[in-house]
This record gives sequence, C-alpha cells and structure tokens, in this order.
Amino acid sequence: MLVLGFESSCDETGVAIYDSERGLLAHALHTQMALHADYGGVVPELASRDHIRRVLPLTMACLAQAGVGLSQLDAIAYTYGPGLSGALLVGASIAQALAFGLKIKVIEVNHLEGHLLSPLLSAPSTPFPFVALLVSGGHTQLIAVQGVGDYTLLGETLDDAAGEAFDKTAKLLGLPYPGGAELARLARLGVAGRFVLPRPMIDAAHLDMSFSGLKTAVLTLVKQQGALSEQMRCDICHAFQAAIVDVLLYKAIKALKQTQFNALALVGGVSANEQLRTALQLAATEYGFAVYTPPLEFCTDNGAMIALAGAMNLSHAKPAGAFSVRPTIR
Ligand code: KG4
Ligand code: ZN
Repeated sequence: MLVLGFESSCDETGVAIYDSERGLLAHALHTQMALHADYGGVVPELASRDHIRRVLPLTMACLAQAGVGLSQLDAIAYTYGPGLSGALLVGASIAQALAFGLKIKVIEVNHLEGHLLSPLLSAPSTPFPFVALLVSGGHTQLIAVQGVGDYTLLGETLDDAAGEAFDKTAKLLGLPYPGGAELARLARLGVAGRFVLPRPMIDAAHLDMSFSGLKTAVLTLVKQQGALSEQMRCDICHAFQAAIVDVLLYKAIKALKQTQFNALALVGGVSANEQLRTALQLAATEYGFAVYTPPLEFCTDNGAMIALAGAMNLSHAKPAGAFSVRPTIR
C-alpha cells in the first residue's frame, strides 16, 4: 500500500511516500529556520503561510522522486496534532482535499507516534517491546511501547521539554536561533568539570523530569560570572549538556529496569544530540540493552515518519470529509 504523508505541525514542511512492502520511496523537507531566525523563535502566522507556499511543490518533488502518480496512492496520512493550529490546518487541508479528489482514505497521525516509530524507517523489523525516550522541542516523555498503538506513558517532564531547555539556555547565552544544535556544537569545545550544574530529580524514584530549574541555574551562573569569554560560554554549554544527558540517561535506565524491557528507542529532535547518543550507547554496552535510533536526518521533524506511521495504521483509515486538528493532544 502506498501512503503519502504530510508533516506541518511546527516549522518544518515534510512530505514523504511510504510503501508498506518496499519502505520509504521518497521524502522532501523544507525547514523554516531562516524565516524565524530574526524573531528568535517560531512565529505561528509566518509558519502557516510558509507551509502553504511549500507543501505542493514538495509533494510534486516527492511524487517525481518516487516515480509515482497521484492515482497510484492508496491513502494519505497527516499530522493532526500536537502542534500549532494554523500550521496543522495546512497539512490537514491539503491531505483531506487531495484524498477527497482522489477518492482515497485519510489517516490522522499523532506527531508523537511518528517520532516513536521513526527508528523503523531504517530498521523495519525493529522488535517490540521497547522503552522510548522521546525528546523534542515540545515533549520529553518515557513511554513503554508494546506494539503499534500500544503506548503507556511512564514519565515526562513536569515543565520545560529537553529541547525547549536547550533552546532557552542557548538564547540566554546569546547563541543564534535555533539554539539546541548550536549549544551542542559549543559544548564540544568546553572543558569538562569547569562548571557543575544540578541534575534535577535524578534521584527521585519516579520517572518524571524537570528542566526549567536548569535554565535558571545557567542564568544565575551567567550573572555571577559577569562578562563571558568565548571559552566560558563553551564551558557552560558543556556543563548544561552534561546535566541534561545525565538526567535523561538515569531516567531511561530506570524505565528499562522498571519495565524489564531490554531495548531503548531514542527519538525526537534532541536524539540528534551526539553526546546523548554516545552516552546511551556506552550505557547499552554496560547494561546489555539495545538502542534504536532513527537516522540523523529523521530525528527532527519530517514527513517520512508520518507516512510510515500512516502505513502502520492503515486500519484507522477513514474517508475524507469534515475534519479538525488537535493542537494540544499528547
Ligand atoms: O522533534 P523536533 O524537530 O520538533 C518538535 O517536535 O518539537 O525537535 C526540535 C528540538 C529543538 O528544541 C532543537 O533545539 C532540538 O530538537 N535539537 C537539538 C539538537 N538538534 C535539534 N538539541 C540538542 N542537540 C542537538 N544536536
Ligand atoms: Zn517533533
């Protein structure tokens, strides 16, 4: 079955074609990073307008890349939430309109399920169950994944998401938007142990997390230091990243012990973080569990994971018709 997928929940327009038998046939992505850079964050109205501009050219590029005609599609999947309402409506509208015209079905995909299943893009026979550590700009959750559609929330952040903490800390250190990847780049140049930041909730028995205090700890440190040299900035980035990675690692290992699963999927935008990936790999060797990660290009938002999640949820396909989006679902 051939599924066309649309992702437009935030600042990336992603389109992809996934074949249930042959896997990912094509994907195309446009990131709005440059569009929002001057504002230091995503401007929802600009995001929606840009999705409108990009979605059809990307779709045509995808069809051409896959060598597939519209009439060959079996279903259309799209992100229906969570995300920015206007941005979500663009993907939803184009998916519904195309499906209506082509007389094929639509599949509503939860953006988080897209991330959860993203390791299957490169390894379709990834075995269940596994614990997923979902770390993105909007969410930080530990989830027991027993199979497609069988998800149990084990713990989550009580305030900022890990990616949000990266971005906000980068901003207060004066780094350009989007800050997460840039902070990680500077952390590589930092001296380990020059500064030490707290590891919030690391010793708590539960699997919830909290990252907003960490950002405040960085702010306090910056104020104490006065003018920051380039090296100090890198050292602070190193200390911040080390603290976040430690907390995520401890909580992930705790979740594996609690569930007695022996595999961990690291997904969502922050899963692109090299230090986090390395730390998890080392722990995996030490404790004897498997680590599944999507290829780097599918860590951050993309259409491929939505087309894949659609293909795995074909039983939920329904006729095109009246629709709504869900900006705030989990
Ligand atoms: O999954 P995603 O693309 O969008 C959401 O669903 O939120 O994740 C975006 C988040 C941003 O906060 C971004 O700063 C963070 O992922 N991110 C990183 C890295 N690359 C992206 N954070 C830390 N290190 C990175 N290398
Ligand atoms: Zn995402």
